[in-house]
Amino acid sequence: MKLIVVKDYAALSRVSAEYVAARVCSQPSLRIGFCTGRTVVGFYQELVGLHRRGRVSFAQAWGFDIDEFHGLPQGHPKSYRTYLQENFFHLVDFDPQRIRLLDSDPADPEAAYRAYEEMIEATGGIDLQLDGIGLNGHLGFNEPGTPFGSRTRVVDLTEESRRAQIDLFGSIEEVPTRAVTRGILNIMRSREVLMMASGESKTAIVAKALAGPVVEAVPCSILQLHPAFTLIADEAAARDLLAAAPPGLVVERR
Ligand code: GLP
Repeated sequence: MKLIVVKDYAALSRVSAEYVAARVCSQPSLRIGFCTGRTVVGFYQELVGLHRRGRVSFAQAWGFDIDEFHGLPQGHPKSYRTYLQENFFHLVDFDPQRIRLLDSDPADPEAAYRAYEEMIEATGGIDLQLDGIGLNGHLGFNEPGTPFGSRTRVVDLTEESRRAQIDLFGSIEEVPTRAVTRGILNIMRSREVLMMASGESKTAIVAKALAGPVVEAVPCSILQLHPAFTLIADEAAARDLLAAAPPGLVVERR
């Protein structure tokens, strides 16, 4: 488990974008699992900037996602699909044929999500999965208590996770009660996982997830067992994890 500590949010965004761009440059057909959320807005801005300065092309890359709100119509302004398109895909040279995002409301969810997983496997599996961390330790939208063997499916959102979305939707009533998420098993199959975390609100959960016991009550704790897991965190988010200094943690400062 590797931790890259950076000074602040601006550095987190820049260093994370450089990290991903370097991976794409060394493997142009990289299969990337993209994530969403407030934390990574700056990361996408930096990645778009690197593309515009000619430092990286996504023309050969593949793009998947990790989660989505359930039941929002296609093109809904608050959907994660719209987020990824507006913050990233539409601003770089990604081939639309290579962007494969979760359907938020298929007629037959079980068949659709099995097909989604099979399609990922058929393209060779995810090389680099990006993710954030929920305030309650959720991974994608795998909420506390999710079995580590879980697959892609529709889930109920916890009250806490819905509250965390109020500023996006305007009021709790507007926040969907359900979501679609790739399962923990699927996420763990990625060859590499890069998590990004920023700010005081994440300090305690980052330490709990990555220095505490690996338990289903804290979904992100499973990442301790991933063979190629890196966290890029600013000083505020990394503070308690650094203090806990779990065995095997490799720390680098940038
Ligand atoms: C969201 C998403 C996750 C994301 C996490 C962190 O609700 N379901 O995929 O990684 O929670 O979000 P934020 O960066 O907004 O704190």
